[in-house]
Amino acid sequence: MAFGLFKKKEKKQEGGYGPHYHDLTVSDIIEETKDAITIVFDHPAEKKITYRPGQFLTLIVPVGGKEVRRAYSLCSSPFVDESLAVTVKRVDNGLMSNHLPDHLKKGDKVKVMEPMGQFVTEFDKSNKRHLILFAGGSGITPMMSIIKSILNQEPESILSLIYCNRDIDSIIFKDQLEKIQTTFEGRLHIIHVLDNAPMNWQGYSGLLNGEMLAKLVERIPDWGIDKTTYLMCGPEGMMKNVDTLLAARSIPKEKIFKESFVQGTIDKASKKEEVAVADEELKTRVVTIRYDGEEYKVEVPPDKFILETALDMGIDLPYSCQSGLCTACRGKALSGKVKLDEEEGLSQSERDEGYVLTCVGHPLTDDVVIEIG
Ligand SMILES: Cc1cc2nc3c(=O)[nH]c(=O)nc-3n(C[C@H](O)[C@H](O)[C@H](O)COP(=O)(O)OP(=O)(O)OC[C@H]3O[C@@H](n4cnc5c(N)ncnc54)[C@H](O)[C@@H]3O)c2cc1C
Ligand code: FES
Repeated sequence: MAFGLFKKKEKKQEGGYGPHYHDLTVSDIIEETKDAITIVFDHPAEKKITYRPGQFLTLIVPVGGKEVRRAYSLCSSPFVDESLAVTVKRVDNGLMSNHLPDHLKKGDKVKVMEPMGQFVTEFDKSNKRHLILFAGGSGITPMMSIIKSILNQEPESILSLIYCNRDIDSIIFKDQLEKIQTTFEGRLHIIHVLDNAPMNWQGYSGLLNGEMLAKLVERIPDWGIDKTTYLMCGPEGMMKNVDTLLAARSIPKEKIFKESFVQGTIDKASKKEEVAVADEELKTRVVTIRYDGEEYKVEVPPDKFILETALDMGIDLPYSCQSGLCTACRGKALSGKVKLDEEEGLSQSERDEGYVLTCVGHPLTDDVVIEIG
């Protein structure tokens, strides 16, 4: 059971939401494929929303009488596009990804949490680099924002996109990408890979395994390791194959950036034993959370996460996926030890710097102080 707050000001606005939330108006809905739509939002009249290419919006929508939150990467570019846009692909039996295309209309208002996420890069006009992007299905969304932004902001940089899809009809942004490729001739190389290719298909088809990846990488420009960065976003199997290939090519980990949309299942079994050992150290402990100039004391029981406990107490902390993927709940542990049930969302350097994810975190010591934001 959580005990009272140490200190808390009422920060929520009318309707129960704080300053980190916005009500956005849907200005357009574009059917990209038979199972994916792009939702275009106007910026709020009072102030433009700032974001970085690669970040996501958290959509907060009532579905079946319950408030549901899901993260959607912005596919628009802050340097190129007037509006904000996210693209949502239906997931079998998925709550939000089916609710949105079935019910959302132009003119509707959607509550969102401000853009977040660490799948980002610094832009500089003087950069001369090669970004190699691996995207699968809806994993193209953050890449789209990054592609448009790099082409606009860094005249001497180039991109190669290896883009995997089930079949030709499921390629999101197919025409847009072709147009961009033509406009920025020689600066964007696109290689499509389909699971099921039609007879006249000029591109690649088949499983994106190590052998196929090795073949594809041979076809893209080689600017040398110092000037090359690798980004990936797609289904778990694809990301794992790309990881294996890059490791086999001795690409340093700090050159590789990943965004995961779903929690991995591969390698989970081998981690279980490790987790069970740490579980023995779990007991009710008080965690201090600093956020937005406030300090909260939260008593976290062993069977609950830090975020979950804080939310139960009515503390308005940032979060989105609640499964350790999106980093919306990221904070820095200024002291104490925190055990994360899921570490995928954080890079090794973030972990080394003491960052933790409150949505999957348990305190392991009595002196945990976490600063968020
Ligand atoms: C940082 C981040 C950015 C994201 N960006 C996008 C985006 O740009 N476009 C987009 O369409 N989605 C994106 N997602 C995924 C999105 O947040 C939802 O998870 C997805 O729309 C499914 O939600 P749902 O409510 O429909 O499914 P749920 O009801 O939550 O889940 C139903 C089932 O489907 C599985 N599932 C969930 N997502 C997927 C998936 N992508 N592929 C296969 N199985 C899945 C779940 O594990 C569960 O078993 C992103 C996720 C994260 C963490
Ligand atoms: S809420 Fe997404 S990582 Fe914690």
